[in-house]
Amino acid sequence: MCSRHIGFILLLTLLFSAVKISSKFEFTNFECKSLDKSFDDFEYCHLKSFNRSYKYLSLKVKLFKTPIRKVKVRAILFKRYNGYKPFMFNITVDACRFLKNTKSNPAALYFFEFLKPYSNMNHTCPFDHDLIVEKLEVGFVNHQATKVLPFPEGDYQLETHWIAYDIDRAVVKVYGTLS
Ligand SMILES: *[C@@H]1O[C@H](CO)[C@@H](O)[C@H](O)[C@H]1NC(C)=O
Ligand SMILES: *[C@@H]1O[C@H](CO)[C@@H](O)[C@H](O)[C@H]1NC(C)=O
Ligand SMILES: *[C@@H]1O[C@H](CO)[C@@H](O)[C@H](O)[C@H]1NC(C)=O
Repeated sequence: MCSRHIGFILLLTLLFSAVKISSKFEFTNFECKSLDKSFDDFEYCHLKSFNRSYKYLSLKVKLFKTPIRKVKVRAILFKRYNGYKPFMFNITVDACRFLKNTKSNPAALYFFEFLKPYSNMNHTCPFDHDLIVEKLEVGFVNHQATKVLPFPEGDYQLETHWIAYDIDRAVVKVYGTLS
C-alpha cells in the first residue's frame, strides 16, 4: 500500500476516534460509608442536580484521630455487564508518598486531577483536619473521562477505599454512565 493510502487511513481513524470520544459522562449515584466510626464519619455525601448540565458531588468527612500520617487509597473500577465486574484496574496507592511527588505515579495523578480543584486534600501528609470535596462538577469529569483518556461507553462504578494505618476506614463509591 502506498504511503498516501496509509495517510488517508490514519486520517479516517483519527476522525473516527474523534467522533467516538465525543461522548458524555453523567453521575448516577454517590455513596459514602464509614467503616470505623471511632475514626471517621461523613457529615454529608451527596449528588446534586442543579439543572440538566450542572451536576455535582460534595462530601465532608470528619476525622477523629488526627493527625493522620499514613494513608493509602485503593481505587477499583467496575463496569456493568451482568452486574458490576472489575474493569481495567485495582490499584492501591500510598497517598502520603504520592502527595510528596505527584509526578511519581501517572495513574494516581490522573485521578488526583479530578479531585484537586475541589478538595482540601491537595497537600502533603499529615492530615489534621476534616476532608471536603466541594461541588466536583460533572462537566469536568466529562472532560477528564472522554478527552484526556477515552473510556468505552457503559455504566461504571469507581470504588475507593480510604485506608489509614493499614486499616480500611471508609468506602466511597461513584456511579456514572458514559453514553
Ligand atoms: C445550569 O446551571 C449553571 C450554574 O448555575 C449555569 O451556569 C448553566 O448556564 C445552567 N445551564 C442550563 C442549561 O440552564
Ligand atoms: C483488589 O485488590 C486487593 C488487593 O490485592 C484485593 O484484596 C481485592 O480483593 C481486589 N478487589 C477486587 C474487586 O478485585
Ligand atoms: C488546593 O485547594 C485549595 C482549596 O480548595 C485551592 O484554593 C488551591 O488552589 C488548591 N491548590 C492546588 C495546588 O491545587
